[in-house]
Order: sequence, then structure tokens, then C-alpha cells
Amino acid sequence: MTQKYGMGYSKTFIDVLKKRCIKTHAQFLIPYLKPGMKILDCGSGPGSMTIDFARYLQRGEVIGVDIEESQIAIATADAKRENVTNVTFQTADVFDLPFADDTFDLVFSQGLLVHLPDPIQALQEQRRVTKKGGIVTARSGYARGAIFHPENALLKEAWLFHNQPLLGCDINHVHILCSFHPKYSIGEIVRKFKSITARELFREYQWLKEELWGGEFWSDGYYVATVGEKGNWKTVERYVRLQGSNGRAVQLRLL
Ligand SMILES: C[S@@+](CC[C@H](N)C(=O)[O-])C[C@H]1O[C@@H](n2cnc3c(N)ncnc32)[C@H](O)[C@@H]1O
Repeated sequence: MTQKYGMGYSKTFIDVLKKRCIKTHAQFLIPYLKPGMKILDCGSGPGSMTIDFARYLQRGEVIGVDIEESQIAIATADAKRENVTNVTFQTADVFDLPFADDTFDLVFSQGLLVHLPDPIQALQEQRRVTKKGGIVTARSGYARGAIFHPENALLKEAWLFHNQPLLGCDINHVHILCSFHPKYSIGEIVRKFKSITARELFREYQWLKEELWGGEFWSDGYYVATVGEKGNWKTVERYVRLQGSNGRAVQLRLL
């Protein structure tokens, strides 16, 4: 089945995924995990959760599948480094799992269904490979349930498919559309935004400090334009669509 998986495989994103474990992302499954089980993790990405399942089971077997070979390589290397021997990884499409019917006691996915064109079909395929009385379980966002105000088809499509090319982006520029109470000045909002985000980013990604040689995360200065929700929404939409597509001149023309 053709699909768009738009989140990509950047180091930054993989580092985020690697922090996931049973405690943070599958606590609800702990009562069901029994020694000797055979578990399948669909869309296992860099495999941190898959490896954690294997560690948790001690006896038993865990298999992680992902459509992307680079993820299988990362996961396999991490399992080896961490000396977890009851886990393996292989490339596979969740719509066409390379396993016989009734193979697994528990089939799991985390952060997968939201990216699939037909999640129900994927769940049916997962049920096929699950033993009778076994468990198929999924943890996932529900992108179609997102509410946009004001309604905007472009943002909705970009959100549903994490479609970066659709949105465009400018290297080293951050563009924010926000509304706030008039009692705050624009300067206050920008200062708050910069200080909170820098603090959180340094906390989450400690290597950033080294990368910046102890320097500041945000450069000084900002540019602000005001837009009216009704009158100028089309301008914002055009701006969002075109940003990054033709250098700085496009931005200056639009705002
Ligand atoms: C957001 S990541 C989640 C990774 C991991 N489950 C976690 O939570 O850390 C989604 C993963 O699903 C994989 N994926 C997307 N479509 C897939 C498909 N049709 N079959 C198998 N894996 C798929 C992607 O390659 C990606 O590694």
C-alpha cells in the first residue's frame, strides 16, 4: 500500500524516539507481559521500546519490524550493544507482515497508526498474525481529530501528512503565528518565547550547549507583522506555503 511517512529519520527525531520505553509509553501493557511471550512491535523505529520489551520479558521473544532499513540497522546495533539477545529486527511493511497466522501472543505499535493511509487494514493484518486469545494493542495520536481554528485546508493537510514540502521552511528562521491578550507587549511575548524555548531545548538536548560553544540559542532581534484573522488569512496561507521556496525575497514581499 502506498503511503507518505513524513516524519523523516533525522538524528534529532531519532534521539527523541530513543528515549521511549515501556514506562513512558506502554505502562498500560505491564500487567499483560508474561515470561515466555512472543511479541511483535510494528513500526519499531530505532527500537528502544522493542528492546525494552525484550528486557522486561527476560524469557520470551520480541521482533521489531519497520519499513525503513536504516531504523532496523540502528535498532539491531543498539540491541547488540546493550547485550539484549531475545530481540530481533527485520524490514517489513505492516500491511503485509512476513509471519504466519497465529504467531504472536501480543502485537504492539506505538506512534504508527497515525501515519498510515488505512490504519484499520493494518490492524486486521496485525490480528491475522496474533494467536487466538492474544492481544493487538496500539498507542497512537489521532491526527484527523485535530481541530483548527480558523478552519484552514492547507494547514490541515500539512498536519495530517506531516508534509514538510507543502509547508516549506526557512533554514535558521522560525515563523510563528499567534494571538495574545493586548495587555502583553510584543517584546514581552518574544522575550518569553525565546527564554522558555531556549531553556527547554538546552535541558532536552544537552549537546546543544557544546554545539553553540556556550553561546545563545536565539540570535537577537525579531520581525513582527500583525494580521487580522478575517482580512489577511489568505496572506498568511500564501506566506506559509511559499516560505523557504525562493530565498528571503519571497518573505519580504509577502509581509
Ligand atoms: C513515529 S515512528 C515510531 C517508532 C517507534 N514505534 C517509537 O514509538 O519510538 C513511526 C515508525 O513507523 C514506521 N512505519 C511507517 N509506515 C510503516 C509501514 N507501513 N510498515 C512498517 N513500518 C512503518 C516508520 O518507518 C517509523 O520508523
